[in-house]
Amino acid sequence: MTTTIKLEQTSKGWDQSAEGYMDMMQKTGFTRSFAQDLLNDTIPLDGKIKQGVKVLDIATGAGAMSIITANRIKSVGGHVLATDFSSEMLKCLEKEIQKEGGINNITAQEMDGQNLTLSDNSFDFVYIVFGLMFFPDKIRGITEMFRVLKSGGTCGIATWSMTNPTAAVLIGTIAKLDPSRPPSGPSPVNSLADPVGIEQLFKQAGFVNIKVTPKEHSMECSLDEFLVFINGNPVFASAKESLPIANQHLFEQTIKEIALEIYPTGQLKLNSLAYLTTAQKP
Ligand SMILES: C[S@@+](CC[C@H](N)C(=O)[O-])C[C@H]1O[C@@H](n2cnc3c(N)ncnc32)[C@H](O)[C@@H]1O
Repeated sequence: MTTTIKLEQTSKGWDQSAEGYMDMMQKTGFTRSFAQDLLNDTIPLDGKIKQGVKVLDIATGAGAMSIITANRIKSVGGHVLATDFSSEMLKCLEKEIQKEGGINNITAQEMDGQNLTLSDNSFDFVYIVFGLMFFPDKIRGITEMFRVLKSGGTCGIATWSMTNPTAAVLIGTIAKLDPSRPPSGPSPVNSLADPVGIEQLFKQAGFVNIKVTPKEHSMECSLDEFLVFINGNPVFASAKESLPIANQHLFEQTIKEIALEIYPTGQLKLNSLAYLTTAQKP
């Protein structure tokens, strides 16, 4: 069976949108809110943190997880290795680190999450925030997390549910411009949207104490900012490419119309439900 790899599953796709992604996340703190919940669940502020703790952040993007984690563990000499397969995203991470100031315990390295060039049993915590669902081979990604974790180590991931207004706008746009297509075809973004399925994959990889928790945060921005954000974003770019050629030029305009139907003031409040999964290596 051949699997079609979509633009959002390639480093090229994320390279092209890195700056726009960083700008929106800076403005809204959107993915950082979920990363903060994951951090509080796994390395609580009032808990005892092990001296020299080692953390791996896979698919770090502009560093939503890495930066807050580095701040939390710096007093105990902890270190974060931030990895991503997009070199442009890692440049954005460097900019974010400079902007934040006072962080000297993050190292960045280009790496595919499905093939970590890292030793077995070498990290206390491993995270993937809104990245794993893009991996063509998810069990391979989870098995890699398991392999590099020390025994007793903890992993944490965030993935999108189906209840996501950004997806609703996109699905509505596709339905309008390609009415013959079955509604809500498979999309990598929503490929880890079933909590039971997530738990099964983590069990299969050998994890224990698996907990899947729903969590909601909102991305608030103007319609104009949203249109800038989606321009070049690989998830939207590949949706546009999948439309009949004759209708592709209507994509942005239709997105705008559908967004205005839901948010007539032009001010978007995208309440988005994610699943936060934590698990331990025995
Ligand atoms: C939606 S962004 C999330 C970035 C960041 N973790 C956050 O929450 O803001 C998805 C990220 O996953 C990365 N990514 C996707 N597939 C990957 C893979 N196979 N290996 C490493 N990184 C990957 C992309 O380059 C991109 O930076």
